[in-house]
Amino acid sequence: MKITKICCIGAGYVGGPTMAIIAQKCPQIQVTVVDLNHERIAAWNDADVNNIPIYEPGLSEIVKEARGRNLFFSTEVDQAIDEAQMVFISVNTPTKTYGKGKGMAADLKFIELCARQIAKVSKSDKIVVEKSTLPVRTAEAIKSILDNTGNGVKFQILSNPEFLAEGTAVQDLLQPDRILIGGDTAEEGQKAIQALVEVYANWVPEDKILTTNVWSSELSKLTANAFLAQRISSINAMSELCEKTGANVNEVAKAIGMDSRIGSKFLKASVGFGGSCFQKDILNLVYIAKSYGLNEVADYWEQVIIMNDHQKRRFSDTIVRKLYNTVSDKKIAFLGWAFKKDTNDTRESAAIYVADDLISENAKIAVYDPKVTRKKILADLDYLESRSAEANAAHILSFQTAYETCEGAHAIAILTEWDEFISYDWQKIYNSMQKPAFVFDGRNILDGPALEKIGFIYQAIGS
Ligand code: NAD
Ligand code: UDX
Repeated sequence: MKITKICCIGAGYVGGPTMAIIAQKCPQIQVTVVDLNHERIAAWNDADVNNIPIYEPGLSEIVKEARGRNLFFSTEVDQAIDEAQMVFISVNTPTKTYGKGKGMAADLKFIELCARQIAKVSKSDKIVVEKSTLPVRTAEAIKSILDNTGNGVKFQILSNPEFLAEGTAVQDLLQPDRILIGGDTAEEGQKAIQALVEVYANWVPEDKILTTNVWSSELSKLTANAFLAQRISSINAMSELCEKTGANVNEVAKAIGMDSRIGSKFLKASVGFGGSCFQKDILNLVYIAKSYGLNEVADYWEQVIIMNDHQKRRFSDTIVRKLYNTVSDKKIAFLGWAFKKDTNDTRESAAIYVADDLISENAKIAVYDPKVTRKKILADLDYLESRSAEANAAHILSFQTAYETCEGAHAIAILTEWDEFISYDWQKIYNSMQKPAFVFDGRNILDGPALEKIGFIYQAIGS
């Protein structure tokens, strides 16, 4: 099947950038991204491309190039499904907050709604592509819904998980390490796989396009995220031991990373990993393992989350301890709120949990993040339901600049590794703070000895 029209359901952090790149690289294909969220679609269509809802370096330029040519954002979900030969499902699959599997399993209600809508609307055969991260064997449920419409329309279901990381999404999409496509092993399934391979082959070398059966593809995505997160928890576990022993975790990471079997990437000790994927996907993996009675497998992976929670809590505990065991009414300046640099995404950001702990200790938190608004910060804290919205608002202070944020503070905590923090005038910041002036570098990005020379008491992670 030659693909000329693609529909993507879900205009989020994955659907938006992924489809923008497909549209840019395949001008012969019309790509329509649909979403139920009118505000989000309006933002994607904003005349000023700088107002698109997702901040990713390089993305607005690509949207500018393709939007209105062969890239469209719309709320007309039915029409876009009907017209497309290939429908990507890229909706959110958060951790369930109710019922069986609450706090562990992936909530697949949005996925099922999409499947039912595709089943209802389709009048011609379609390839349905799972782009969302899904528990292994979800394709079976989707197939069962699609195969029971009774109208003779035939569907092929592919799994095509997305491996982009936020902040580097454009680069990751343009030059992926690999594209993974899983499909049915029968002839029709193989044809569907080939149709999607041809889309990617417009810019991805074919040797980087890996095809597997559906279950391997679905499970590989959860596995990849579990392995990546496990590396961070492993180095973070070592960071605590380093702090007790005089070893330096940056040096340890470098030393082990030079072993080509280990590799140097993803070994940065930090205040803890955040983001919408790692925790959700590992919890889901743990739930799946338990559902098959594989308790040792489940416990093994759950430890990655336990370690990450410990690392976040350890950071806030250290701040309280170093500030003479009380932060009550003290001003703590947070530099960064996003879960990593170069994104405006704050989902599961360590900053939220550290702030929550410190507010419980009655601290005043002044937050500066170049891409995150006060409204978002308060919404993140309110979501935890630790206290009233008014109480959160009373504890969060907001300023226009990082310098004002730090003025009069007892301590600064670095929560996100934004590049601009490194080049600040740290002498100027020091002069404006309460003394002794503390810096808790949750990302190990600052020059500790230089800060100590200025007069700061500097505390990194893992040294
Ligand atoms: P997101 O919340 O940013 O976007 C999902 C969008 O889907 C929302 O805008 C929502 O309104 C829309 N939606 C939900 N149900 C819908 C429906 N029935 N019809 C139309 N629109 C609907 O989520 P995201 O970060 O883009 O993640 C999407 C999926 O991709 C998840 O499964 C996630 O695990 C996976 N993933 C995310 C990343 C990442 O970095 N964010 C990376 C790889 C994979
Ligand atoms: C992750 C995966 O990397 C990506 O392949 C998948 O598609 C989605 O989930 P993302 O969450 O966007 O991507 O960002 P990532 O770069 O993986 O960072 C996740 C968290 O781990 C961030 O909070 C980051 O600061 C932290 N991290 C990352 C570390 O603390 N140390 C590291 O060495 C790397």
